[in-house]
Amino acid sequence: MSASLRARVLPDYGAMSAAAADLVTAKLRERPHAVFMVPTGTTPLGMYRRLVARHEEDGLSFALATFFNLDEYMGLPPDHPASYHVYMRENFYGRVDVDPGKVHVPDGFAPDPEADCGRYEKEIRAAGGVDLCVLGIGRNGHVGFNEPGASFGSRTRVVRLAESTRRVNAADFEGGRAPERAISVGMRTISDSREVLLLASGANKAGAVAAAVGGGVSEEVPASALRHHPNVSFLLDRGAASGLGGSMTEGRPA
Ligand code: PGA
Repeated sequence: MSASLRARVLPDYGAMSAAAADLVTAKLRERPHAVFMVPTGTTPLGMYRRLVARHEEDGLSFALATFFNLDEYMGLPPDHPASYHVYMRENFYGRVDVDPGKVHVPDGFAPDPEADCGRYEKEIRAAGGVDLCVLGIGRNGHVGFNEPGASFGSRTRVVRLAESTRRVNAADFEGGRAPERAISVGMRTISDSREVLLLASGANKAGAVAAAVGGGVSEEVPASALRHHPNVSFLLDRGAASGLGGSMTEGRPA
């Protein structure tokens, strides 16, 4: 494990989600104008639920913060039920006090997607760069939609989804067919973030987590790029940590 990579193993999904919500809340309290990069998928749902509850019950405000999403499918209008625009509206942006002018989701329906990717990178730079990037991880080690083989130097661009990813995500689509392409921020875009937090839950992520944390650093395992990052934490539940053998103990690296 790299010296800078911190990993915490929490007993279950709820504890992992609470720890993630705590870290986002702490960042926001320390820096109300913080710039966040945020994920979709099933893993962060518990974190978003807790952040919404803190907004409703404790008045936690997101109004000054800026948000960039990691990715979006290509070819889906922003009101498509499987789009990440809808996911974010239903699970987070539509339920807290974000400033719509400070919320950015890649436009999978843009007439000129490549130009739009360049614009997205410019917006990230104009916001001052990302303070905290929250990631999930795919079973194949992808982060965002940076699939195995993605260059560690990549920026926001149009990507082709791995067949395995399309199979995992097929259930979200009528007819069971996920889009073939997506827009994803790049590996360099992620690595440029000042702090990175990766969430993983469940035994079906154990292989990817073990490869990212304990294997070689390789573009075949996109998440392994994080081992070069100076400020990265993995929050894992027991299932996701089950491939790490004796290298981890509850709550902290051994
Ligand atoms: P999941 O997706 O949270 O739905 O497992 C994570 C990912 O593919 O990055």
